[in-house]
Amino acid sequence: MGEPEGADAAEGRTFLVTGANTGIGRATAAALARQGGRVYVASRSRAKGEEAVAGIKASTGNDAVWFLPLDLADLDSVRACASAFLARGEPLNVLVNNAGVVRARGLTKQGFELMFGVNHLGHFALTQLLLGRLTESGPARVVTVSSDSHYSARGIDFEALRRPERGITGMHGYAVSKLCNVLFSAELARRTADTGVTTYALHPGVVASDIWRPVPWPVRPLMTRRMLTVDQGAATSLYCATSPAVAQDSGKFYDRCAERAPSRVATPELAAELWKRSEEWTTLSA
Ligand SMILES: NC(=O)c1ccc[n+]([C@@H]2O[C@H](COP(=O)([O-])OP(=O)(O)OC[C@H]3O[C@@H](n4cnc5c(N)ncnc54)[C@H](OP(=O)(O)O)[C@@H]3O)[C@@H](O)[C@H]2O)c1
Repeated sequence: MGEPEGADAAEGRTFLVTGANTGIGRATAAALARQGGRVYVASRSRAKGEEAVAGIKASTGNDAVWFLPLDLADLDSVRACASAFLARGEPLNVLVNNAGVVRARGLTKQGFELMFGVNHLGHFALTQLLLGRLTESGPARVVTVSSDSHYSARGIDFEALRRPERGITGMHGYAVSKLCNVLFSAELARRTADTGVTTYALHPGVVASDIWRPVPWPVRPLMTRRMLTVDQGAATSLYCATSPAVAQDSGKFYDRCAERAPSRVATPELAAELWKRSEEWTTLSA
């Protein structure tokens, strides 16, 4: 069966959105539910996740919305989340790797720089664990929310990924993690060619979401005033998740619902190196 077209593209299909309790992820999950999708809201907080599920059900009238616990800073939690989803025996048509942290300092439970660990490595592991189900459910898509911040990363210092961020602003580690999102999506496309799984990385725009929490008041409201709303910010994620226009594409980067050339640093060689290291690192605590 091919993918349905147009406004009903989500109808009856199953979506798992990470970090869907707030921000762009919640807006994405709500739009998919509104279009008749079956939606899993993956969140590290049960209270916030369940509140989001109730809110999405109430605002869309769609009861096919569920909470899944997922802490991307802990690979054991990622495994538990994948197992819980797989145990439900339901197809997976679209995985939206959306959750992210910025200006965060510290290490994940398994000892990786926090932004790399949450934004890339946790999603790498989750995707690997769900890839079999995605392939069985094809045509299927893996959508990874990156950022135009990835253009400012000059490469990946793999040694630095084993210690907390040292930069003053915290933006260096964020840019590297978002470059990893682009590299991961491109390498996954190469590895899933002709399997019915296609991949997409994207910049959502500059969006007034909770991601600006670290910016103190009164700077934050002044800063976020002119930004996109979370619904506007979800548009490119939804385009990559459901649009028939990109059904045949894979491994590309998108901005404002259109293809955009990624950073020149995003080479197939660097993507292959990141993949190899990510595979080794995600089996560390197996
Ligand atoms: N906003 C922008 O301008 C912008 C620009 C470019 C790219 N992006 C990207 O867009 C994506 C969504 O961000 P947003 O703006 O919607 O930010 P947000 O409102 O802060 O939402 C981020 C989501 O990620 C979740 N999350 C954080 N750490 C997690 C962890 N360890 N495990 C599981 N979930 C975790 C958060 O959960 P909690 O609520 O529990 O913290 C929240 O649900 C991110 O990947 C971000 O990098 C955003």
